Amino acid sequence: MDRKEFLSTIGITAASFALINCIGCSKKSDSASGSVTGPTGVDFTLDLSLSSNSALLSNGGYLASNGVIVAKTTAGAYIAVQQSCTHESYPLIYQGSSQQFYCNNHGSAFTEAGVVKNSPANRNLTVYKTTLTGTSLRVFS
Ligand code: FES
Repeated sequence: MDRKEFLSTIGITAASFALINCIGCSKKSDSASGSVTGPTGVDFTLDLSLSSNSALLSNGGYLASNGVIVAKTTAGAYIAVQQSCTHESYPLIYQGSSQQFYCNNHGSAFTEAGVVKNSPANRNLTVYKTTLTGTSLRVFS
């Protein structure tokens, strides 16, 4: 029995395969239209005296925590945006020298204020507030 005979025997046709494949497609097209949002109710604190957070001691450094990218700009300000690209949810990186957040998946870029700079993303990033008290950096909605 070859593959076609086997599938015919169990009642699966080419149309069935197309339907199964389209179930997977629908989520992809939703996110491609910009439905990916950042986390809500964000409120966490990073202790900058810990080595695990040392990336934030250098201008241009960044780390990801709780679905948020926290970065220290080349000017020394702390900024925070959602970690997921608004195109298809790929994790963003921060490029301090270019003053942008960048997605390696399809090349979208966002300003440090979270505004779309380069498509295919068409929705801005969710931006979070930051407050530094001593060595405690609070990130919140
Ligand atoms: S996932 Fe497509 S540009 Fe980010």
